[in-house]
Parts: sequence; structure tokens; C-alpha cells
Amino acid sequence: MTARVLRALAGVTDPEIRKPITELDMVSGVTVGDDGHVSVGILLTIAGCPAAQSIESNVLAAVESVAGAGNASVEVAIMTREQREALTEKLRGGKAARVFQFGPESLTRVYAITSGKGGVGKSTITANLAVALARQGLRVGIVDADVHGFSIPGLLGLVHDGLAVKPTQVGDMILPPISHDVKVISIGMFIDDASAAVAWRGPMLHRTINQFLTDVYFGDLDILLLDLPPGTGDVAITVGQLLPHAEVIVVTTPQPAAADVAERSGIVARQTGQKVYGVIENMSGLTQPDGSVLELFGSGGGAEVAGRLSTGQDSPVPVLAQVPLSMALRGGGDEGLPVVIANPDDAAAVAITAVATRLATRARGLSGRSLGITPL
Ligand SMILES: Nc1ncnc2c1ncn2[C@@H]1O[C@H](COP(=O)(O)OP(=O)(O)O)[C@@H](O)[C@H]1O
Ligand SMILES: [Mg+2]
Repeated sequence: MTARVLRALAGVTDPEIRKPITELDMVSGVTVGDDGHVSVGILLTIAGCPAAQSIESNVLAAVESVAGAGNASVEVAIMTREQREALTEKLRGGKAARVFQFGPESLTRVYAITSGKGGVGKSTITANLAVALARQGLRVGIVDADVHGFSIPGLLGLVHDGLAVKPTQVGDMILPPISHDVKVISIGMFIDDASAAVAWRGPMLHRTINQFLTDVYFGDLDILLLDLPPGTGDVAITVGQLLPHAEVIVVTTPQPAAADVAERSGIVARQTGQKVYGVIENMSGLTQPDGSVLELFGSGGGAEVAGRLSTGQDSPVPVLAQVPLSMALRGGGDEGLPVVIANPDDAAAVAITAVATRLATRARGLSGRSLGITPL
């Protein structure tokens, strides 16, 4: 009986850590009475953990599936500090110390989404791209590093009562909230008063982003997307230093005048050793019901930026997509339900999903990746 109960419990996962509770040492004991009543003890990481209720009811259901309805009970306790430390160590893969998770030996592909200026749709594209990648079966995380304009929690519906959802902390490990299978961490989750962040300067930003890449439990990711603040400031430089192997995707509008500033963000990335992977032109022409195209923001900006960033490179920087103006894309952002899920046939959703497919195909193969092997 105990073995069967344990097997059923292996089907219960911690919703935040996304692993079976049996692997997380969260089952403290299984007692089978003479009358066949099964009592299971579970250990939660912290008191008031948001996942507590779902774990408890899932455990009860799992045990009842073996012992019969009404024949099971669950006792909940909280892990001791030692137990929590053992768990965080286990999640870190046996490493007791905090380690930077995205060093050059990591297999995660990192893309920093940048733009010359704000309001070009960088965050909207980051959120949708991440969800589209997750829908294709990839393990995806987002680091929202836009300290003064964080918007990823809102775009992904991770907001309650006007505040970004708070991550659960287990010891010094931070469990990122998950939306549409994307693990998300945002500066906005650590700030109660948005105006407080305005005073943040270089060293504090550097420390925070370093901490995100160290203490946030992303697990093994295929792709990490970073939503950077617009321009070429402290965060862009920090990311360049911490993640020199990250590749940069530049978002621009079709407006030729926007090309200058967009180009600069690509150049700064290169100065820190990052490669520009491609350009996404956003807010491109909107096809009208009569077939004509409304080019509200002009045309040609994406090709212009890609062309300029290609000069002197071995291979040209491609325009990855032209994402048209879209009410559905905007509306999905306002509602926290990305258009790639809410309205996948929308032209903007199709364009973003195509970029996701391109990144996914690349992530699955190791071709083109340095394996750190030097040929003889
Ligand atoms: N293709 C698009 N069509 C219509 N609205 C868009 C599009 N892309 C972005 N937006 C809207 O433009 C605004 C700015 O987008 P946002 O993603 O916040 O830009 P950024 O992160 O570059 O500052 C948002 O209100 C968003 O909904
Ligand atoms: Mg933004």
C-alpha cells in the first residue's frame, strides 16, 4: 500500500518548482492504519506558501485514488531551515553555494531584447515571443530588467490589485512566478512603490540583475529572454558584462528616423562582445479590410537598422519579422493575455510566432554553438 501511495504522490508536482513533491523531499511520511486509512505528512517550503492549497488538495486526491475516497488524510507542516537549505542545494544540482546560472558553459540561449527608445513594443514582443516559445515546448524564462518601465508582469497577467505578483522565496532561492509556462522575474516584483525605483543607479542595478541570474530558480532553460530598458544605459552595459555570450535582438519601428537610435543599441551590445542576432520591426503597416496598407509609422526602419548593423560583419543581420500594428496585440497586453494565445491568427501573432519557430529550431540543435572545444 505504501509503495502505491508513494507512486501516486510522485504524480503531484509543486506548482512553483515544477517537480514531483517526492523528489523535493516534501513527503515526510506515509502511515497506513489497520483500518486501511492512509495518513500522509507533507512539508511545505514556507508558511503561507501560495501553492499550499493546491498541493494539499492534489495530495489528498492522489492518496484517495489509492486508498479510496474518505479514507485519507493529509497533515501539513513547514520545513525547518535545514530542510529548506537541503532543498535549495538539491535544486542547485548539489552545489551549496550560490552560482551564476548563465555562464558560458550553460546550454541556455540568452537573447537580450533592446531598442533605441521606449514605446516601440519591446516588452510586448518579449512577452509574446516567450509565450510562443513555451507553446512550442521550450523551457523559457524572462528577466524583466527594465527598472524604470517594467511591464512584463502586467503583459503576462502577473498582477494583483495593481501590484506585480511576489515570488516565493525559499532561503536565498527565489521561485519565479509562472505565466503560460514562462518563468518570469521582474524588478517590478520587488518594488511596492514604482517611484522608488527611479533613484536606482548603476551599482544597484548591476547587483539586482546579477542576483536575478544567480538566485532565481529557473531550472534548465532552453531560452532566456531579457527585456532591457530602452537605450544604451547602465543595464545594457551590465547585461553585456554578465552575459557576453548573449545575443541581441533590436526592436525598432518602421520610422526611418528611429533607425539611428536603434542602431546605437546594437553597437553598444557589440562593444561588450555580444552578437546582434537580428532586428524586429514592430508597428509595421496595417492591412485594411479593402487590402490597402496603412503605414502609420512609415516604412523601411527595420531594413535600415539591419543594413547598418550588417556593415563590416561576416554575415548580414536579418530582419526577423515585421510585426504589423494590431489592436489584438495591444489589447492582449492590456488584459495580460498575450495575443499569440488569445488570438493566434492575428497577423501580429503570426509574425511573432514565426520568430519563435526560428529561435526554437535553433535552440534544439547545437549547430552554430561553440561547444568550448578547440580543434587540434
Ligand atoms: N504592433 C503593435 N500594434 C499596436 N500596438 C502596439 C504594437 N506593439 C506595441 N504596441 C503598444 O505600444 C505600447 C508600447 O509597447 P511596449 O511593449 O510597452 O513598448 P516598450 O517596451 O518598447 O516601451 C503598448 O501600449 C503596446 O500595447
Ligand atoms: Mg518596455
